Amino acid sequence: MAEPPLPPGVRFAKPDDLVRIGMVSLASFIGTDCYDWLWVEPNTYPQDTLAAEINHWKEDMKNGEEIFLVIEDEYDPDENSKTSAVIDPSQTNWRAPQPGEKVIVGAMSFTPNTGSDRADNHAQAPDAVYLRLNPGPMFLALEWSHSFKLSRFLEENETRLGFANGFNLEMLVVHPAYHRRGHARTLVKWMQDLARIDQVTVYVAADGKADKFYARVGFQIMERHWVPGDEIVPLGFRINMMKWLP
Ligand SMILES: CC(C)(COP(=O)(O)OP(=O)(O)OC[C@H]1O[C@@H](n2cnc3c(N)ncnc32)[C@H](O)[C@@H]1OP(=O)(O)O)[C@@H](O)C(=O)NCCC(=O)NCCS
Repeated sequence: MAEPPLPPGVRFAKPDDLVRIGMVSLASFIGTDCYDWLWVEPNTYPQDTLAAEINHWKEDMKNGEEIFLVIEDEYDPDENSKTSAVIDPSQTNWRAPQPGEKVIVGAMSFTPNTGSDRADNHAQAPDAVYLRLNPGPMFLALEWSHSFKLSRFLEENETRLGFANGFNLEMLVVHPAYHRRGHARTLVKWMQDLARIDQVTVYVAADGKADKFYARVGFQIMERHWVPGDEIVPLGFRINMMKWLP
């Protein structure tokens, strides 16, 4: 069946977008408790952290199982002052646009339900050109034990709650310089419209700080979890398993 029309400013992501998506993702996630728990020293190794962020989106895009959308807005040349992430565009091949020109400010990815062919329509060609990251020490700022713990937590709980029976919202980021303009709502609404056509539930494992946003766009909390801190990062974080019904 057909897909809902894309709203103005929204399009499907391409491999060429990955550097900018990584920048937006890093700028956005760095304020969340979950990110602080995973990335112990992101600003000690800013180049490495950005490369890892780009790499994460790249690997997901390459596996062809998810749908990726981006949203654009007018470029704010002061955007870096609105995030605590250290982002130096000269470390990448990204060229800043002129003030007021359109630039990616948000991105979303989700996995359709098992058996759906929705992602096939948007899979990247196998010969798509993906960014080559500079070889070098990767993921220095990542706390690996936390990363494994979080992956296990998500896998166990998402399986138990049947996330694969519906759409699984994997990543949703809006650069803080462009928050509260309805960008995340616009991205999520397109996915919800598609889920309504397919009559499937949308699931998300959401950072606790995003619960108000998800409530505003119609999600309900299925379960609340608390991942405790430890000697590496004393502050734990909340994570909510949420759903939206078509
Ligand atoms: C959560 C996030 C994606 C929201 O992006 P956004 O573009 O600013 O959100 P929108 O402007 O579309 O907001 C939609 C609604 O949610 C509300 N909202 C958004 N962020 C909110 C917040 N932090 N607290 C309370 N309400 C919030 C808005 O006021 C708006 O309500 P309204 O339409 O009734 O006025 C953004 O804050 C972000 O990138 N956070 C860091 C990454 C993250 O946590 N992602 C989700 C992890 S699963």
